[in-house]
Amino acid sequence: MAIISSHQPSPTPEPQPRNELLTPEKTSEEQATVQPDETLRPQRLADYIGQRELKEVLEIAMLAAQSRGEALDHLLLYGPPGLGKTTMALILASEMGVDCKITTAPSLERPRDIVGLLVSLKPGDVLFIDEIHRLSPMAEELLYPAMEDFRVDITIGKGKTARTRSLALQPFTLVGATTRVGALTSPLRDRFGLVQRLRFYEPEELTLIVERTAQLLKTPLTDEGSIEIALRSRGTPRIANRLLKRVRDYAQVKAEGTVTGAVARLALELFNVDPMGLDWTDRRLLTVAIEQFGGGPVGLETLAAATGEDPQTIEEVYEPYLMQIGYLARTPRGRVATPAAWKHLGYDPPDRQLSLF
Ligand code: ADE
Repeated sequence: MAIISSHQPSPTPEPQPRNELLTPEKTSEEQATVQPDETLRPQRLADYIGQRELKEVLEIAMLAAQSRGEALDHLLLYGPPGLGKTTMALILASEMGVDCKITTAPSLERPRDIVGLLVSLKPGDVLFIDEIHRLSPMAEELLYPAMEDFRVDITIGKGKTARTRSLALQPFTLVGATTRVGALTSPLRDRFGLVQRLRFYEPEELTLIVERTAQLLKTPLTDEGSIEIALRSRGTPRIANRLLKRVRDYAQVKAEGTVTGAVARLALELFNVDPMGLDWTDRRLLTVAIEQFGGGPVGLETLAAATGEDPQTIEEVYEPYLMQIGYLARTPRGRVATPAAWKHLGYDPPDRQLSLF
């Protein structure tokens, strides 16, 4: 299995643990490149903005584990994409002074992928498995004793001569991440000592994140500029940082280089991000629900077919924020565009729709 090291620049002088990104599908050339975004991630819990309760829970768990000289309990992080699950796993490793190995469930197809990974872990290391709801049944079976008793059962040989051997593992912490906690099997979910949800960020928190990133990118930014970007970032740091980079380009080419409120508004209009942060796909989902299905209820599969989007992407990427801002409701009979969504898109909600809410 190919392994790369993506070294994290550290604000502290002590040697940093190595974080290995395990991406078997990448070429060695791709793997040699450290993602520029990696340098934008906060390295310490104190630098991580937002998710106050999560940080508090993890701080207590880490201090307790450290004082007992044990590995941190296994942790399941769930929530919409872009809210900082990977960042949190890297921070935990860094705070505990251990290495973090990062992989994704679909790349753990063969028994030797997961066994190789488990036996390579050193005491206390963090193993981060993204999209953990996509683990194969075989990989799950191998993980159960690994999580519970720090051992892995391997089969040697084939047919009649096959024997099972139990290999001892070093105590480690599994950090699983998922956008679909309901899709995990209960035996797997039950083996996590800590199960924590990441929530959407408040505009004030996103404003601070945009200011922090602008500082790292050496981009001049006014208060109005950061607020404008924060308000259009759908409660998601990954989107806030992406929009900041696009607005920075626009400011450099079309303005004097400073990201002001006016520059941010013009740039984001050009990039089709509206004042509520909705992009082309969000608006299309709502528009199709309104124009073709009278605002709903419309089934997920039907909405997906009518918009040409993947149902899972609608469910995991688009719907959570539309529901959070009260533009979309999930009902037993399907999805419904709320009166607020009708109004936002310039339609008059009919009485029939108003009476649903
Ligand atoms: N960059 C992305 N997410 C962040 C967060 N939660 N805190 C600080 N910087 C970030």
